[in-house]
Amino acid sequence: MSFTIVKEATPRLNRSELAVPGSSPKFFEKAAKGPSDVIFLDLEDAVAPDDKEQARKNVIQALNDIDWRGNGKTMSVRINGLDTHYMYRDVVDVVEQAGHNLDLIMIPKIGTAGDVYALDMLVTQIEQAKGIKHRIGFELIIETALGMANINEIAKASPRLESLHFGVADYSASTRARTTNIGGANAEYGVLTEADASGKRDYHWGDQWHYALSRMVVAARANGLRPIDGPFGDISDPDGYRAQALRSAALGCEGKWAIHPSQVDIANEVMSPSEKDVTKARRILEAMEQAQKEGRGAVTLDGKLIDIASIRQAQGIVAKADQIAGR
Ligand code: GLV
Ligand code: MG
Repeated sequence: MSFTIVKEATPRLNRSELAVPGSSPKFFEKAAKGPSDVIFLDLEDAVAPDDKEQARKNVIQALNDIDWRGNGKTMSVRINGLDTHYMYRDVVDVVEQAGHNLDLIMIPKIGTAGDVYALDMLVTQIEQAKGIKHRIGFELIIETALGMANINEIAKASPRLESLHFGVADYSASTRARTTNIGGANAEYGVLTEADASGKRDYHWGDQWHYALSRMVVAARANGLRPIDGPFGDISDPDGYRAQALRSAALGCEGKWAIHPSQVDIANEVMSPSEKDVTKARRILEAMEQAQKEGRGAVTLDGKLIDIASIRQAQGIVAKADQIAGR
């Protein structure tokens, strides 16, 4: 281990994160009663400029009137970007009037550590002025070339930070990546194999988002934050959604956005450790405990040596399973 100890962010279940437009209060009650772990009420890109003010009012009222937390929800509000004049009122009005019922603020299009610093100052003042006892956390969307270039400084910019999210739609726009299907695979991103003896060549699709997602996972984990994968646009393609969620989980992501309620169950399932994994993890921990009791250093299970890294992994899996069971 390094002499530097990574401090983990406030632990929260974040397998699914449902996006609900602040301009559509008709969806609020259903979202509160649904199965998502986290909900973000959106004031940004799902809300048209003419609806911004009303959406803000809806969100404040909903945070205060609906029993989100009683339904096990972590509540977030996605504010507008720091480059818009909506942002300061989003923060001031929402935190002043509903900060007691707000867990997180989602900050889009973060570009520099200074962006985080500015918001930290504003939120700190409002919390103090309003006597808000808990610390409102920040979730940051990495979705611009600038944000990705500065990700390591951004990821350590404030103790409020809890998670980094890959905003693949805006990231594509910002990097001018060629993509048609938000967060999906791209037929143009692949390799043609060399010809075999019969002259046949195969085409293998690659994952266009691998680098960005991996880079975000590393920056997040190096700073104790949760890496969360962003949207998958084709809501009529649950198989495509599941495939993307699985590869995000394989890379280390803890959760994925749902831009439609139908995606929530898939995210929860994919981002939960399987029963098989949990059973194996518990057996590893039991074997370790037994070996310690018997004064044995080396631990074997099913004929395989278990090292300290596998014990740490097992502890992580069991902790997550307990967290899910306690929900
Ligand atoms: C999310 O905000 C995205 O741009 O993908
Ligand atoms: Mg975006």
